[in-house]
Amino acid sequence: MEHDSKNRITRLGVLLSGRGSNFQAIAQSIRDGRLKNVEIALVLSNIPDAPGLAAAQELGLPTAALASKGRPRADHDAAMIAALHQHNVDLVILAGYMRLLSPQFIAAFPNRILNIHPSLLPAFPGLDAQQQAFDYGVKLAGCTVHFVDEHLDHGAIVLQRAIPVLDTDDAHSLAQRILAEEHLAYPEAIARVVSGEYELRGRHFLRKNPPASI
Ligand code: GRF
Repeated sequence: MEHDSKNRITRLGVLLSGRGSNFQAIAQSIRDGRLKNVEIALVLSNIPDAPGLAAAQELGLPTAALASKGRPRADHDAAMIAALHQHNVDLVILAGYMRLLSPQFIAAFPNRILNIHPSLLPAFPGLDAQQQAFDYGVKLAGCTVHFVDEHLDHGAIVLQRAIPVLDTDDAHSLAQRILAEEHLAYPEAIARVVSGEYELRGRHFLRKNPPASI
């Protein structure tokens, strides 16, 4: 992100629909000082009783619930854009937000929306990615943090973390081990995006000044 520099605080808007463990991992990284130069400006949920929203309230973070049920996507997304702007959000973090975003929403935050997906994209986009990977019999699984564009689980990749699939795994144990990787990947990906040290060149998210090779 061009406007980020080393000392500027980037304001995060976290969107979630469920348990919010990725949100909590990000919040913990900020508290520990591992993820610097960011603050959580708003945690927003389309599900008013999402456990992740309650966790955010317990942490004393600004929260908002905008129920999406039965509401046209464009209306709901317009309300979310307004809430995010009101809280001066610079970077939108999808953390288990289980609803497709409208083109209007994506256009409102160009290259400023991140998502985490529990597979090594482009393999296994969509729902139940861990189950898909397990059923397919892959030997490597993992997670992907990527920029969000108008296609599902498709935008440029920020980073991936891979783990071996063990002979003893079932879909549940695999999902648990992928989740542990997600909790490391998301704070690290956010750190890279806000560092100002990386740039997007087409689909490639690269260091601006790579270390000289030896
Ligand atoms: C995670 O597996 C994430 O990869 C996917 O949705 C799940 C959200 O989990 N997009 P949590 O709500 O962060 O615990």
